[in-house]
Amino acid sequence: MFADPSAARMTPRYSRRVVEERDAHAELLADFRAGMLEPPRSLPPKYFYDARGSQLFDAICDTPEYYPTRLEAELLEHHAGAIMEASGARTLFELGSGTSRKTEYLLEALAARVAQPHYVANDVCGEILDEAGVRLLQRFEQLQVDSLCGDYTAALAHLGEVSGALADGPRLFAFLGSSLGNFEDAEAGDLLRRIRETMKPEDRLLLGLDRIKPRPVLEAAYNDAAGVTAAFNLNLLAVLNTELGADFDPEGFEHRAPFVEDQSRIEMHLVSRRDQVVHVSEPEARLEIAEDEAIRTEISRKFSRAAIDRLLAIAGLEHESEWSAPEDWYSLFLLRPGVA
Ligand code: AVJ
Repeated sequence: MFADPSAARMTPRYSRRVVEERDAHAELLADFRAGMLEPPRSLPPKYFYDARGSQLFDAICDTPEYYPTRLEAELLEHHAGAIMEASGARTLFELGSGTSRKTEYLLEALAARVAQPHYVANDVCGEILDEAGVRLLQRFEQLQVDSLCGDYTAALAHLGEVSGALADGPRLFAFLGSSLGNFEDAEAGDLLRRIRETMKPEDRLLLGLDRIKPRPVLEAAYNDAAGVTAAFNLNLLAVLNTELGADFDPEGFEHRAPFVEDQSRIEMHLVSRRDQVVHVSEPEARLEIAEDEAIRTEISRKFSRAAIDRLLAIAGLEHESEWSAPEDWYSLFLLRPGVA
């Protein structure tokens, strides 16, 4: 139907708008200043996802070691009907939708229930949104797809501008892939609270969370044998080179992803292979990075039941239903906004 993704924007069934609160470049500058000028250095993981980073993440999901995507897809495949029925929704609003591949299970169940299904997608990568939109419009003939390109906060702030999205209730919000695991407690609580504040009483949230399991399984998932995760991690340096006019040498860094048990999280690091100097033009800086120094590029939390319930209580979200993989290796939670 569409020769290329840009053609998607020519149908009334698709829209995409950019919803950054601040412009994305200014945000990266601020985060770089805050996290990278002095050790211990770190950056938020959202900068992984340029077009190449989004493709690499998609490739990670296909590696035999990366179990979260497969476990979540299986749960969705088996329970999408029950989830959509419990939500009663006509609109599905997904934060961090990426390629929307797993989402197809939910959309299938939605399309079976309502005549005019509506999907509001959100991602920081516009290319991936358009690509997914084209695919979904072809597969679901009645589907309306509206894309919000920006981070989670911006998407939540601008959801009301999507035509029909407010009137469409009840809506199912989806936050899948354990992406909440990228945030420490305080930030995760804030984000969940923002979600709850955006929900109307009849809306529901489907939250996918990765759980604690044996270390070898966890570490293999973030250190796949084909080196896809390493390439994904190192791609961040290419993003910094492009966006900030820096001269990071990807060969000068090594991917590392240990499970830090006392924090119950995988930490992704780029570890310097030697003493090196990196020049950055914007903000103008000269970074002296020592051999073995680690730049922390991501945390990926593995949630205990207690940690989950604590976060939900802080955010004012209540359990409605849940579905878990064998041995609780991965869980989907259907949540409702609590009485404020
Ligand atoms: C998309 C953030 C959930 O933390 O498992 C995969 C990203 N990083 N492999 C995760 C990721 C390395 C992923 N999330």
